[in-house]
Amino acid sequence: MDWWKKSIAYQIYPKSFKDSNNDGKGDIRGIISKLDYIKDLGADLIWISPIYSSPMKDNGYDVSDYYTIDATYGSMEDFDELLEQAHQRNMRVVMDLVINHTSNEHPWFIESSNSKENPYRNYYYWRDGKNGEEPNNWAAYFHETAWTYDKKTDQYYLGVFSPYQPDLNWENPTVRKDLYQMINWWLDKGLDGFRLDAINLISKVPGLPDNQPKDGEKYVFDHTKFVDGPRVHEFLKEMNRQTFNNHDCVAIGECAYVHPGKAVKFTAKERSELDMVFTFEHTDYYKAYGKNPKKLKEIITNWQKELHNKGWSGICFSNHDLPRIVTSFGHEYQYRKASAKLFATLLLTLEGTPFIYQGDELGLPDTRYETIEDYDDISAKKLYREKKRLGFDETTIMKAVQKHGRDRSRSPMHWDNSQYLGFSTVQPWIKPNTACSDINVANSLNQSDSVLNYYKEMITIRKANPTLVFGNYELLDSKDEIFAFRRFDEKGNFLIILNVSEAENEFLHPLLGKNSAKVIINNYPKDFSLKQNTITLKPYQAIVLHV
Ligand code: NOJ
Repeated sequence: MDWWKKSIAYQIYPKSFKDSNNDGKGDIRGIISKLDYIKDLGADLIWISPIYSSPMKDNGYDVSDYYTIDATYGSMEDFDELLEQAHQRNMRVVMDLVINHTSNEHPWFIESSNSKENPYRNYYYWRDGKNGEEPNNWAAYFHETAWTYDKKTDQYYLGVFSPYQPDLNWENPTVRKDLYQMINWWLDKGLDGFRLDAINLISKVPGLPDNQPKDGEKYVFDHTKFVDGPRVHEFLKEMNRQTFNNHDCVAIGECAYVHPGKAVKFTAKERSELDMVFTFEHTDYYKAYGKNPKKLKEIITNWQKELHNKGWSGICFSNHDLPRIVTSFGHEYQYRKASAKLFATLLLTLEGTPFIYQGDELGLPDTRYETIEDYDDISAKKLYREKKRLGFDETTIMKAVQKHGRDRSRSPMHWDNSQYLGFSTVQPWIKPNTACSDINVANSLNQSDSVLNYYKEMITIRKANPTLVFGNYELLDSKDEIFAFRRFDEKGNFLIILNVSEAENEFLHPLLGKNSAKVIINNYPKDFSLKQNTITLKPYQAIVLHV
């Protein structure tokens, strides 16, 4: 059926979306109250970050019970109602599926730590120490070491994210069976699919060998020991056969360090593994090197070409782990609106399922807090400790935390400009971004030139033109700052011209002079003449033409 290829996805970070019971945290009834908003935007596939029971050390990416809803978010009845209400509106709902690891408070883990003989012992990676130290020198994503010592049985357990997120041992068939049972339970309920968290981490390099020492550090981070391990495809195929394959649902993979060749392996139809994986190469590039329009179009073009007719991707420029789009790829100040609209244009004219992260449809910039106490994110706290240990001064450290800490995109949603932005009537769990309170839904609905209205228009255009979803892709020759491409098939020929720059730039193409050329959308108010085959684009100008 592949309905998800035509979907427009909207990601909800539930703790920060809408608080219905005024306890300062978002909840399911809050989401229900905003379904019409999402529908009106034009999105029809909602991905909700984890809402299962959890001690919330990583905001739900540490699940302590896969079969219950965390009380902060509501009840299973609330969830059932959400599903029903979404379905009534012809919208689908996918949950996050966090199965590379559980919480250290999950009953499986508690059992497993009880004794070496416990039947659950082998659900996780327990190992003896080496010379009184950790079993190997792996560093974790959110913690100094990937191993945690447990006195009770005098062994260590593995958590490549943090001690609160022990890795499940997928080598154990009983673990897999239990997970598949749980997946089927949700799908039988009518859930429309899952976004699979860190799913290419489920197979580790056998023997868990030490990492190459680096810079004299005791613990070394090297993803190659636990990403795309030797059994990853076998496990995914088995999971697909036993779960997704028997339901009308979508399986969206969050795969780390993925490139187009790997993406095809994960998503080719005949391989029966996943339906799509997110594109992260451009966001990873940004993280390492900063803005670079030339690289952006190179990376995206490569994905578009390599996956066409072979695989499928979820396109995103931001999410709850990444900076806001205008902060990373666009411009926060003078060209905030223009750049937000430019990236909306790009997101919605590429092949792949577009994902809009809550608040990006308003063109929100990153949130920045002054002190480490304002941060909740487990990774921001590690970064802070790390920089302190290395002797950096507080100002430098906080700059780094503001840039890399994940709370930059997790502050409460901006619904209106009341004290707590219409998110709640009490102080939210994390400070709202009041510096940008004017950027909100209520204002945006009233402004004809708002980013929100532009998103709506672009979504309508995509929905009316399957060429933009399935058509061929061709990159057009231009200077580095201009990202120009064609999407075309027998039904249409679209020219997308984006000036990814704060300067004006010229673009020249023979198709521009054609009498038949028609402007479909333009993110600047002034029209321009299409008489000549050259146009001068304003900073962050985006134009879609039909020729
Ligand atoms: C990826 C999720 O997006 C992130 O938020 C989380 O911290 C890690 N996986 C661990 O589950």
